[in-house]
Amino acid sequence: MPEVIQTFDLKKTYPLEEPVHALRGVNLTIGPGEFVSIMGASGSGKSTFMNILGCLDRPTSGSYELDGVKVGGLSRNELADIRNEKIGFVFQGFNLLSRTSALENVELPLVYQRKKSKIKPKDKAMDCLVRVGLADRMGHQTQQLSGGQQQRVAIARSLVNDPALILADEPTGNLDSRTSLDLMGLFQELNQQGITIVLVTHEPDIAMFTKRCVEMRDGLIVRDTPIEEQRDAKLELEEFSGVIGI
Ligand SMILES: Nc1ncnc2c1ncn2[C@@H]1O[C@H](COP(=O)(O)OP(=O)(O)OP(=O)(O)O)[C@@H](O)[C@H]1O
Ligand SMILES: [Mg+2]
Repeated sequence: MPEVIQTFDLKKTYPLEEPVHALRGVNLTIGPGEFVSIMGASGSGKSTFMNILGCLDRPTSGSYELDGVKVGGLSRNELADIRNEKIGFVFQGFNLLSRTSALENVELPLVYQRKKSKIKPKDKAMDCLVRVGLADRMGHQTQQLSGGQQQRVAIARSLVNDPALILADEPTGNLDSRTSLDLMGLFQELNQQGITIVLVTHEPDIAMFTKRCVEMRDGLIVRDTPIEEQRDAKLELEEFSGVIGI
């Protein structure tokens, strides 16, 4: 199997009057089945890096291979296709359509896909909602769901194309600690099923649920270490529920 992510000396400069060197030579390899957190101070380049990994933006120089495909030479359409095929996105703000049901939100990426699969979009979307524990909320509209449930819908949507990789930028940033724990349990479950996950977080506590932590500073990777004692979100959630008696 190829590496899921391989970057070579990635640089990104935003051409303002005073150019911003957001990435200054990033080398990173992430293999299948990894669960990686990216940490670093505000402005260190995390979102810039994630946008390039997600084929939402291009580097100024350097190269990037996603699941064995050299991304640099691709046209805009090819880039959109590879993004749809290989990557699921989860954002801090959920990015769901309002006044639209959970089911429709999850179906949407399949509707826009140019290569149609044999499975009906609705059936595939239902499968994914079941996978994230929302079998009983499929018909609810976005505003009828809690924040944690909305993020689960977003995760179901990210799964709908069977991606090689899930990219999550501060997915727990808008959630309270109990709901964050709950969501990290879901990410851990998906990772155990073999999905590769890269997750940006400000919180060292959240990074402890992943398997490897990469730290960025001023557009460079300054630390890359395995998490020695990975936390188990489901276990902690049970203990948490026990303490407050629910
Ligand atoms: N579109 C843009 N145009 C110009 N400069 C940008 C742009 N996007 C980001 N920057 C600059 O690039 C640097 C890195 O920004 P980036 O958003 O990648 O940081 P970050 O690590 O994600 O920060 P945060 O933790 O606050 O989300 C910052 O100095 C930022 O001001
Ligand atoms: Mg950011």
